[in-house]
Amino acid sequence: MKPRIFVTRIIPDEGLKLLRRDKRVTVDVYEHDKIIPRTELLRRVKGATAILPILTDKIDAQLFDAAGPSLRMVANYAVGFDNVDLTEAAKRGIVVTNTPGLEIAETVAEHTIAFIFALAHRLVETDQFARDGKYHGWGPQMLLGTDVIGKTLGIIGTGKIGEGVVKRMYEGFGVKIVYNDVRRNETIEKEELATFMTLEGVLKTADFISLHVPLLPSTRHLIGAKQLKLMKKTAFLINTSRGPVIDEKALIAALQKKQIAGAGIDVYEHEPDIPLALRKLQNVVITPHTASATIETRQVMSRRAAENILAFLDGKTPPNAVKTQK
Ligand code: GLV
Ligand code: GLV
Repeated sequence: MKPRIFVTRIIPDEGLKLLRRDKRVTVDVYEHDKIIPRTELLRRVKGATAILPILTDKIDAQLFDAAGPSLRMVANYAVGFDNVDLTEAAKRGIVVTNTPGLEIAETVAEHTIAFIFALAHRLVETDQFARDGKYHGWGPQMLLGTDVIGKTLGIIGTGKIGEGVVKRMYEGFGVKIVYNDVRRNETIEKEELATFMTLEGVLKTADFISLHVPLLPSTRHLIGAKQLKLMKKTAFLINTSRGPVIDEKALIAALQKKQIAGAGIDVYEHEPDIPLALRKLQNVVITPHTASATIETRQVMSRRAAENILAFLDGKTPPNAVKTQK
């Protein structure tokens, strides 16, 4: 029997075409465009050589047990891989890959920048106002937003995505930028695009603060009540990374009290749940984890996941192998 690759959801077709063209393997795709139920997932992974899951599938010891010893590889269709238990994968010698890359970083950076301007110019709120038939005449003080030019942008986490936001906001709008990361970013420092500060410094200084860190034990609730208190009353917080990086309850409380000006949020602590209290707020722009959702990028992710599997089948180290800790 040929090795089987199990794909847990219908994904854009380019990667699937690459896999199907390879006569060494059979490609088995969960045929519904919805999240595969857990029991179905556990049943379908049995005997697979590789799986191509999406970020809502929990890839853990239970799943590895259900798959059995045939499973050699997990090609996660996402940049993040907090849904995969890397320690368990390492123990079993299972290779894990993700789908990072410049195109994806640029797409998420664009979404972040869209949040910055949507918040500053109150786009969602004013659109709703206009749609609701509330516009009865121009007014000098009506629905005032704030400029972005002349403000300070704070970036927390300067991997490819954070760096993309820095470059574009610096080159396009000349805003002052401050950043924090666990490591100094050489590109940013060499080109003098942004100034390094402590996390506290960034929180106290910036008018727009955007999070671009992976979800790790050390970044869970990186932003909680204490950190929100450090922010300016006029500042906005943006999160396109992972929901649990922010203490969501604390954020909602800060927004309700107008302790900060607003937030642009793409990811949530308990997805797909978006708290009603958050949805009711005027001073937020919320998107349903769609920061990387462009036609182009979702195809790139599809190709990249497939290329990782094909490299693995060729006996090579896949280009996007994630370091697993034993
Ligand atoms: C999406 O959130 C991703 O990690 O690709
Ligand atoms: C997209 O890749 C995200 O992290 O939201």
